[in-house]
Amino acid sequence: MRRSVTFISIMFSALLGAPLASHADGNPAKAETDSFAIARGGQYYDKWWAVIDADAPGQTHAAYPATGKKQGAATWRCKECHGWDYNGADGAYATGSHATGIKGIRVMAGVAPKVIAKIIRTKPHNYSKALLPDKALAKLALFVSKGQIDMARFIDSRTKKAKGDRGRGARFYQTVCANCHGFDGKKINFKTEKEPEFIGTIAQENPWEFLHKVRHGQPGQVMPALIALDVQDAVDITAYAQTLSVK
Ligand code: HEC
Ligand code: HEC
Repeated sequence: MRRSVTFISIMFSALLGAPLASHADGNPAKAETDSFAIARGGQYYDKWWAVIDADAPGQTHAAYPATGKKQGAATWRCKECHGWDYNGADGAYATGSHATGIKGIRVMAGVAPKVIAKIIRTKPHNYSKALLPDKALAKLALFVSKGQIDMARFIDSRTKKAKGDRGRGARFYQTVCANCHGFDGKKINFKTEKEPEFIGTIAQENPWEFLHKVRHGQPGQVMPALIALDVQDAVDITAYAQTLSVK
């Protein structure tokens, strides 16, 4: 759309013999903010191929342990080995169908993105440029360095309760999320009719995933990322969503 407007204005300027108006004039800055880059970076941590509209990898990742229960594309998601709580084997993925025994990425918070990018390009990760282009990698590395939060501060790991204010969360939920997910959280069913999965289901069963997605959005979907808000706002939304129906 913007391109065609520019094209038309060039045509007009050419016709009238007028000098082209400076693009800086009246145009908002187009430079990407760190918030945008980190929000996207968190989506690459998730199902990254959906963000760049690429094909999902077919093979199981070589670093995925033989004892693990997943295979194929799923094993290429950062979260599959390092967890939604970024704590790997020390977090929610210590046991269960996602257990791999692999460590988390918490200690990499604050480390230079370049160092992190190299870790992802090289062994044992080996994400090639063909899979994850440089621009995507830069955002992902920025997320690992600057976008991680200490989930334990915001979610009680024993009860899974979000340490937030439901009343405050309801304000955000009803004015932002409800537009797509419905006032009761049941407008979008993520699974099947028989075994439905709604906003409330994920908030209760996997609050770490929920909090990550509130901050970063859903890969390849129109869902917004609320990373520009305070973390506590996202935690409050999670606390409220934990009261929504799961059936
Ligand atoms: C199939 C499993 C697997 C996947 C998927 C995976 N990693 Fe890793 N990652 C590992 C293993 C194993 C290590 C530990 C390597 C070592 O210690 O030598 C590691 C280590 C790391 C480290 C260093 C942690 C530290 O404390 O030294 C970072 C950062 C990291 N991974 C980021 C990522 C990111 C970002 C992605 C997604 C692009 C990703 N990983 C996907 C298995 C995986
Ligand atoms: C513009 C529409 C839109 C808005 C606004 C929106 N979402 Fe979403 N959301 C989606 C879509 C579309 C999906 C993907 C659904 C699917 O995969 O079936 C999704 C997926 C999700 C998922 C992940 C489901 C899964 O199984 O992976 C969660 C959690 C979620 N949304 C929570 C929220 C919360 C909380 C808010 C408010 C902060 C919100 N969404 C706002 C459209 C939206």
